[in-house]
Amino acid sequence: MCSPRLVFIAALFAVSSFFPTATLAQSNTTVATPANRTDAFISPSDPIGVGDQSADPAHIPANAPFKNAGLPADKRVADLLKRMTLEEKASMVAGSGWMESTPIPRLGIPAIKMADGPLGVRSWAGSSSITGLPGSPLKVLSTSYPSGVAMAATWDTELVNKEGKAIAQNVKALGRDMILGPTVNINRVPLWGRNFEGYGEDPYLAGRLAVAYVKGVQSEGVIPSVKHFAANNEEFERHRIDVKIDDRTLHEIYLPAFKAAVEEGGAWSVMSAYNLINGVHCGEDRELLTGILKGELGFKNFVVSDWGSTYSTAPTVNAGMDLEMPGGQPAQNWLADPALLERGNSGAWLTADKVLAEVKAGKISEAQLDDNVGRILRVIFLSGLFDRPHTGGGEVNTPEQVAVARQAATESIVLLKNDNHLLPLNVKKLHSIAVIGPNSADARTGGGGSSLVAPKYAIAPLEAINNKLAGTGVSVKFALGMTMQGESPDEMKPEFKARLLEEAADAAAHADVAVVVVGRYDKIEHEGADLTTMDLPAGQDELIEAVEKANPRTIVVLNTGNPVTMTKWIDKTPALLDMWYGGQEAGPALAAILFGDAAPSGRLPVSMPKEFKDSPAAANYPGENLHVNYAEGLYVGYRYFDTKNVEPQFPFGFGLSYTTFEYSGLRVTPLALAKGASHTGAVVSLTVRNSGWRAGTEVVELYVHDGHSKIDRPVHELKAFRRVELKPGEMQTVAFTLDSSAFSYWDPEKKGWVVEPGTFEIQVGASSRDIRLKAPLEWKE
Ligand code: BGC
Repeated sequence: MCSPRLVFIAALFAVSSFFPTATLAQSNTTVATPANRTDAFISPSDPIGVGDQSADPAHIPANAPFKNAGLPADKRVADLLKRMTLEEKASMVAGSGWMESTPIPRLGIPAIKMADGPLGVRSWAGSSSITGLPGSPLKVLSTSYPSGVAMAATWDTELVNKEGKAIAQNVKALGRDMILGPTVNINRVPLWGRNFEGYGEDPYLAGRLAVAYVKGVQSEGVIPSVKHFAANNEEFERHRIDVKIDDRTLHEIYLPAFKAAVEEGGAWSVMSAYNLINGVHCGEDRELLTGILKGELGFKNFVVSDWGSTYSTAPTVNAGMDLEMPGGQPAQNWLADPALLERGNSGAWLTADKVLAEVKAGKISEAQLDDNVGRILRVIFLSGLFDRPHTGGGEVNTPEQVAVARQAATESIVLLKNDNHLLPLNVKKLHSIAVIGPNSADARTGGGGSSLVAPKYAIAPLEAINNKLAGTGVSVKFALGMTMQGESPDEMKPEFKARLLEEAADAAAHADVAVVVVGRYDKIEHEGADLTTMDLPAGQDELIEAVEKANPRTIVVLNTGNPVTMTKWIDKTPALLDMWYGGQEAGPALAAILFGDAAPSGRLPVSMPKEFKDSPAAANYPGENLHVNYAEGLYVGYRYFDTKNVEPQFPFGFGLSYTTFEYSGLRVTPLALAKGASHTGAVVSLTVRNSGWRAGTEVVELYVHDGHSKIDRPVHELKAFRRVELKPGEMQTVAFTLDSSAFSYWDPEKKGWVVEPGTFEIQVGASSRDIRLKAPLEWKE
């Protein structure tokens, strides 16, 4: 794959420029793009060898090849397409309900029954504005897992894979077939309302987790949907915002997680995004959906629209949109709301009558329609739905699923500060503990919107601490301290606030130790709107300050998806934990970390800026006149902080343990795979030793620094990582194999990935700013 010049073109096909002067979306002819490759695999005119080439659509023999589960999916698709009428095909590119694709009972084609996700199963009965209401009868009680950013903080691909599997079991138990997730959009700005859903700021980390999740879900025959394709990184005017982004940034930062999910994970579906990219809505961007996704990345399965994100018929179908959602009467009812249209929602463009009319007018070719429908059919076959429909009736919250939710919540907690080993707390030496804060007695399991799961139960920090200390003689005193914004009619009254603060300070002053759980919740941090500030809401800074003044042994716990400004109190805070939104088992997970039943092993999947203005995209957010310029380019997250020497509050990859680790013996061996080939990668090994007195888990992070590049490159980039569990004194050799993707950059001229010969530096450490070992790697011409 690698030429001697070390130019390896990921897109073996000449994909036309990402900045087309005339958009291909308008074209009604099949152009010479990589999509032809995918068109070919289901073209009904292909000699596919399934027999019965002149089938009468009305007559379906019992032994029709498409019914044969033993045949490859593509052969079944080709046979089935030949038996479908044009009307049937036209009906399949739009849904039949809020979360159902269109079935064709005559041919035994089932509807794909979807459910929202990705952090567990949410309702499928209507939009989150209806099903999210407290007491809504449309709620589905399912297992609530930690949010995406929390899962990313585990850096544990095996666990994310188990989570994907468990969620898929929930999906099947509830009689559904598809989960709308994972969300793999990059955390570009710390105010994005949906940061909690995604896997953080680094494309490599997000990619590894996306592959793990997709494989876990698909191993159960459930369809995931990797979303939102692409560059959907703010909620501000999400239907109308036009993202200006260059080809290299798109490829190096915003596409890799999708690429990994598609190429390695074999994802069965991808959801397009609401926003526009360089002037074209993602849902009708042929360059994006057909050129890049289906061509360059070789995606063979179907693209589903985000709910209400289509704006045309022929251009959308021709762009490579395979399934418009929602559909049927629910879509018509929903789109009748003028307020929605006002916000830029749009849909019902791919209804059967509209699609048929465009086919008849020659604006959509039958080959194109076959491609769109064939992709949906392919997934119906691949997932086994055609042969074994999901019937529901299984269980949610099985002991295994709950164990995954608990393990994930525990591993996700990041210890950010621990002066004088305040943590873990020793129950034997403790007499009293004050548990304070608006997030201590209420279980804030997740952010709001389409991902918010209604669990059957959720254990809040206070309840879990009470459970842990029951029968020990340690007294637990609770004080609310502050009501969460929007939760009390009296919240604006100064005397009310003063009383709560006083109670909190009093509780803290009379306890050995104070635990203050602060943060946000789903009414503040949610889909559909961004945060207006990085500061903690509802005067919680004041609360922390008051408690710390009353008791210097204060442990602050953050319960939120996004970073918060900490400048007012961080210097006086001896211990700080980030528990994110941890799902239904977050409380017990926190208690386990506080009392040392588990050692903290989470690491930050995002950089935490000191203040919003320090964050890389602050100057280019949210944009003007509905345009947002990704002018910071590649310099997202630590790529910015570390290259431009801006000190964050806490760096990417950071997290303490209750023990310490030593790194030694870094060896870097160039790897030549083929005879006569120059380097195709490297094997890197090192030894990690637990040098403390407690068992613990280290996350070894490997970064590659390119010091010789002709072009601008971030000072280093994460290219591998591994969790290593070690007993006191134990050591382990960790080995990584790096292929050329660890050294390459996207060359917009060549439209491919390029490695420049020269000396790279392999850096290994415990965060992007704590590099413990370095060694050169010579990459020869
Ligand atoms: C969200 C998607 C979600 C869909 C269906 C949209 O508003 O952006 O992530 O899956 O609704 O609820």
